[in-house]
Amino acid sequence: MDIAFMTLSRLAFGYWEGQPLYAMAELGVFDALAEGPARAATLADRLAASTDGMVRLLDAGVALRLLTRDPETDGRYRNTEMATKLLTSGSPDTLIHWVRVMGRWSRPWSRLADAVRSGTTVEDQGLRLGDDPAYMRDFILGMHEYARRGAAELPSAIPLEGLRRGVDVGGGAGTYAIALANAAPELKLTVLDLTPVLDITRAMVDAHGLTGRIDTGVIDYRLDRFGEDLDLVLMSNVLHQESDTVCLSMLGRARDALRPGGRVVVQGHFVQPDRTGPLFATLHNLSALALWSGGHSRTLEEMAALAGRSGFTEVTTGPVGKSGLSMVTAVRA
Ligand SMILES: C[S@@+](CC[C@H](N)C(=O)[O-])C[C@H]1O[C@@H](n2cnc3c(N)ncnc32)[C@H](O)[C@@H]1O
Repeated sequence: MDIAFMTLSRLAFGYWEGQPLYAMAELGVFDALAEGPARAATLADRLAASTDGMVRLLDAGVALRLLTRDPETDGRYRNTEMATKLLTSGSPDTLIHWVRVMGRWSRPWSRLADAVRSGTTVEDQGLRLGDDPAYMRDFILGMHEYARRGAAELPSAIPLEGLRRGVDVGGGAGTYAIALANAAPELKLTVLDLTPVLDITRAMVDAHGLTGRIDTGVIDYRLDRFGEDLDLVLMSNVLHQESDTVCLSMLGRARDALRPGGRVVVQGHFVQPDRTGPLFATLHNLSALALWSGGHSRTLEEMAALAGRSGFTEVTTGPVGKSGLSMVTAVRA
């Protein structure tokens, strides 16, 4: 067996396996099958697709173990247990918005060489920030579906005692604000984000019974103030979207918004000092290039230095529990 050939062909074919998943998520196959097993022709009719294309897609779905086709049900397809749990929109464990975002992102990813040539994004980031409401909804809910699984690790990783007022800058659906509010009963939080995002945030906060504890504020985080006299400013998974100039401006405004002794927490994926790993962080860095104008991943040391340059003291770095994320924390003198 030629291991080098096998390894390379696995890499080169890598994107094929995700595509049927993205197509089934985009077409609504999993939700349609949640209503009951169906034949390919019926699904094609319901989902405005060709029967031939649908047969091929569903057969690949069976091969990928997302669907089954039961000969005893006359060739009808059904969701596997995994698809029912993770890919139907009615499931509390759903990842369907996140999978749809990954499908959308496979388009700019397919233009990676263009992004590398030009050194900048190949997608209009306004689309996911409100210009295309369906895309924005997939983006915000998708980030939540993915992040909420490890979100409780954050409050376990930072000192919560004495926290009364905090903001979550670019807080999206409120994933981390919800985790913090659940862990620190005295803490009131404001999720700061763009106008079209905050309807989703309010609905999410309400669904978690935290409406009195978490409110929202419209902000352009590149320009606006974050508040005053705060105990905590959280910036989670946002600074990789921005250049060093914007990061310094945001960290400076975080410092200004904190009371003396208040803490900024920058959470995200960071590359190791030689920048060649971990693998996911190096890919995240490429994603930042393709998707976010000016965005790039930093090392923890680089982020700590930006915090130091912004006037913070007691700068620390470390993992966020077992979430796979890391953080830089720093205190306003
Ligand atoms: C990758 S998501 C991170 C969401 C959340 N903080 C988390 O860790 O899961 C980036 C967030 O930044 C927000 N955002 C992007 N540009 C922004 C801007 N100029 N002003 C305010 N929020 C912005 C997006 O709407 C989105 O909620």
